[in-house]
Amino acid sequence: MSRVRGALVEVLSDPTAVGHRAAEVFLHLSQKAVAAHGRLSVALSGGRTPGELYGLLGSEHYREKIGWERIHFFWADERCVPKEDEASNFRLALETFLSHVPVPSGNIHRIRGEEGAEKAASDYEADLRDFFGTSKSPPFDLIILGVGEDGHTASLFPGSKALEEKERPVVPVYKEKPQVDRVTLTLPVLNHAAHILFLVTGDSKTDIVCDILGAGKRDKYPAGLVSPADGSVLWLLDRAAADKLK
Ligand code: 6PG
Repeated sequence: MSRVRGALVEVLSDPTAVGHRAAEVFLHLSQKAVAAHGRLSVALSGGRTPGELYGLLGSEHYREKIGWERIHFFWADERCVPKEDEASNFRLALETFLSHVPVPSGNIHRIRGEEGAEKAASDYEADLRDFFGTSKSPPFDLIILGVGEDGHTASLFPGSKALEEKERPVVPVYKEKPQVDRVTLTLPVLNHAAHILFLVTGDSKTDIVCDILGAGKRDKYPAGLVSPADGSVLWLLDRAAADKLK
């Protein structure tokens, strides 16, 4: 484990090892948050990378170890598709673990992407306000993020207006077809979390990981702008993704 510009970076052998380490981190942080204030609020991401973690969370081992009734699930972002769609981040989490563990349905706070970006964003903002008692930078215990090859994270893309958002916790993101519209948490929320966990694997991420963590160009990329003032950031990388880091 090493420290890079305030973030902890851990390099593991392969995506499976990253998944195992992430599951242990999840378990540890859930126990810590429940002991401190009775619950864990976590925002999940979609994409390919968290699949290993999600599969483990749905396994017998973690099903029994984790206090599911104390965990509230939110999403860092969602695509504006029906919840059964292949591209739905909710569907990914539901199929890989949420449907296999005893989490109360009232603890699942999904983004209703099928309502369209504008409405889904304002409904989600209302859900955050109800749960956290504030809609200005709701204080998540944990936000799990990935990084795209262009340096995006959640649905915060390079050059997007959403990156300038200073007030709203959630914004709609409109993409040209064929890419779908999305809804995303904004930087003030990511930067207000107690813990950020980045999961990044594969050689297609080597250059972007090097730019964000190694070469001092982090401000060029949305993922590089995630740096909570009072929170911790842990990057779990596999060897392929970390290949160009010293
Ligand atoms: C999504 C995301 C997104 C993702 C990155 C990395 O829903 O697509 O939340 O930000 O984390 O695109 O995706 P991979 O894990 O597939 O590389």
